[in-house]
Amino acid sequence: MSKDFTNLRQDFPVLSRVINGKPLVYLDSANTSQKPHVVINAMTDFLENGYAPINRSAYQMAAEATDLYEGARTAVAKFINAPNANEVVFTKNATEGLNLIVRTWGIANLKQGDVVVLTHMEHHANIVPWHMLVAERGIVLRYIPITPDGQLDLSNLDALLTDAKVLSFTSMSNVLGTINPSKFLCAAAHRAGAIAIVDGCQSVPHMATDVQDMDADFLVFSSHKMCGPSGLGLLWGRQQLLDAMPPFMGGGNMIADVRLDGFTCAELPAKYEAGTPPITEAIGLGAAVAYLSKIGMHNIRAHEIDLATYTMNQLTQRFGDDIVIHGPTNIEVRGATHSFAFKDLHPHDVSQVLDQSNVCVRAGHHCAKPLMRLLGANATVRASFYLYNNHQDADALCDALEQASEFFSPS
Ligand code: ALA
Repeated sequence: MSKDFTNLRQDFPVLSRVINGKPLVYLDSANTSQKPHVVINAMTDFLENGYAPINRSAYQMAAEATDLYEGARTAVAKFINAPNANEVVFTKNATEGLNLIVRTWGIANLKQGDVVVLTHMEHHANIVPWHMLVAERGIVLRYIPITPDGQLDLSNLDALLTDAKVLSFTSMSNVLGTINPSKFLCAAAHRAGAIAIVDGCQSVPHMATDVQDMDADFLVFSSHKMCGPSGLGLLWGRQQLLDAMPPFMGGGNMIADVRLDGFTCAELPAKYEAGTPPITEAIGLGAAVAYLSKIGMHNIRAHEIDLATYTMNQLTQRFGDDIVIHGPTNIEVRGATHSFAFKDLHPHDVSQVLDQSNVCVRAGHHCAKPLMRLLGANATVRASFYLYNNHQDADALCDALEQASEFFSPS
């Protein structure tokens, strides 16, 4: 029997907020997600009753804090089926995770002329750090193109991967909602002798993730998109790679020894966690992982398939040829993230009218300018759903879109 999500929004206190007499319709979860009571309570409890440093001091509260912090790491490892919790590194955000890989593995392993393959649907965080290495090292970037319906065009994949050292791709597009075939892509990368880096920011919060089954080499994702707090990202990497890479930032916690003439690194994961980490945030994420796991990631995916189906149908039925909806129409290969534009209205104008109905969406380039150029759009309206959304939210979106359309139509 499928899980009933009807009462779940009560777990999220902010969703009961009313602004100008209208209930909150939060459709910006691809940007950042809302937080359930259990996450807020876990963080508040730690701050009120047990806040202390980790890994440094011998008193009881410090030992408890270290246990909670490491417990969160173990929970995250289990959530993505990592073979070993020491392969999970807490970073500032997913962007830092990608930069860490480029600045450590990339600097140690890539030289002039080496090929890195990306896709045409990457977010800036998986493009700009590589551009920096183009400038510094002379590496060469290739891009997997996309089909007219917003999926990766894999017809020329083996040729694109010839002599490549890296394939780095998003597992779900933050603009199109496209779910990419991560396992297939990792296998293709390995056949070509490349490592596979997966940007899981948009997929890990929404569907079950298994790094061993996927056979990735690195996975990055962010806490704040999966009901956890901001200020915390996750980097998982194969131990062999993480052990061999040089350190990222230098400072306390990441050292085994420091002398006047040098230093030695700590073992994993401390090697990549210089300075005082986001302790409270990690504990909040641990609670988020427990919350999502209890609901079940397969149930969340099933709920979002239902939301995506309903929303696509409503948008199509109510607005027909007046809007362009980007991304795949096949729900099996898309998440509940919908980018669209009215043919004659600017997305920013639309989002402002939606705001008057307390419908929160993102309008803009979604930090994916190369993709937007390909779509021939400066901006889209993006309505992105999560486990706490329901059909009424999709109806409210369409009602507000109708108002926007009427407001701007020439009289
Ligand atoms: N926060 C970014 C988005 O909105 C990544 O898609």
